Amino acid sequence: MLILGIESSCDETACAIVEGCTKLRTDVIASQAAEHRQYGGVVPELASRRHCENILAVTQQALKEAGCTVHDLDGIAVTYTPGLIGALLVGVSFAKGLALSAGKPLIPVHHITGHIAANYLAHPELKPPYLCLVVSGGHTMLCEVMDYTKFRILGTTRDDAAGECFDKCARVLGYPYPGGVQIDKAAQTGDPKKYPLPRPRVAGSELDCSFSGLKTAVINTVHHADQIGEPVDAASMAASLQHTVSEILTEKTELAAARTGYTTIAMAGGVSANSGLRRSMEAMCKKHGYTLYMPPLSLCGDNAAMIACQGSYNLLAGITADASLNAYASKTAIGEMAE
Ligand code: KG4
Ligand code: ZN
Repeated sequence: MLILGIESSCDETACAIVEGCTKLRTDVIASQAAEHRQYGGVVPELASRRHCENILAVTQQALKEAGCTVHDLDGIAVTYTPGLIGALLVGVSFAKGLALSAGKPLIPVHHITGHIAANYLAHPELKPPYLCLVVSGGHTMLCEVMDYTKFRILGTTRDDAAGECFDKCARVLGYPYPGGVQIDKAAQTGDPKKYPLPRPRVAGSELDCSFSGLKTAVINTVHHADQIGEPVDAASMAASLQHTVSEILTEKTELAAARTGYTTIAMAGGVSANSGLRRSMEAMCKKHGYTLYMPPLSLCGDNAAMIACQGSYNLLAGITADASLNAYASKTAIGEMAE
């Protein structure tokens, strides 16, 4: 089975081809990060325009590198939610046209399920059911992966996602977009104990989390230091933030594992590239004898390989769409990502 995946939910135009669910034949990504950097974040209109310009060339290159034509494919998978609506629409419209013209099944993929599937590409031995910590720029959730296409959300952020918290704090500390990776780099030389930061709790729901108070605490500390003319030790603030976020996420995962009884744990999403989080999750899993799966750094961020992989499982489960498929900016409790 050969599945082509298309990803355009944010600022990466990507196309990949996966064979037999988990064997990556090719993975092409055209990143717009450098262009958005000058504005301090993703400019949605610009992202849509660049997707329009890049998507055909990226897809042609993927087919060429995989040594196949569209006629050899068994299906065309595409991210249809969640993301920037204009950006998603480019991928969805392109995939629809391609599927329709080639007479191939069109496979809708929820972006978050794609992030989870990135683990299967690197670790085909990973099989549901297991517990997964999903941490991306827009989402932070703990979910039960009951089957390749069945998910149950156990806890989620009540406000900001962990990635958003990293990005906003990075901006106030003067680091360029995308800030998460800059925080990670800076944290290597900082003192994680220098700035004690709050650990917001969500009353009545121990598996939910909240990051907006933490973000505000970092911003207020930086502004206060500015006002009194004291320099902020940016590396130590980055280290303190990374340490606090990692501890919160690891503790929530530990609690979820204890409650559900899962001994296999996975991580997914852009923030799963964070070295502090990877270390603290490794230590927690080692302490309990849990098996931990993390995507390699190359598959943590947005890519189409994960979409093609999840698309393969969706096709096997009969999850396909017709030409009426639409894109949705936010849609969590749907189809293959049921709450
Ligand atoms: O999953 P992703 O690529 O896109 C979304 O679906 O949102 O996640 C992007 C997020 C951004 O907030 C980015 O700053 C963060 O992942 N990120 C990191 C690291 N690498 C990427 N955050 C912390 N440490 C990193 N090393
Ligand atoms: Zn993503």
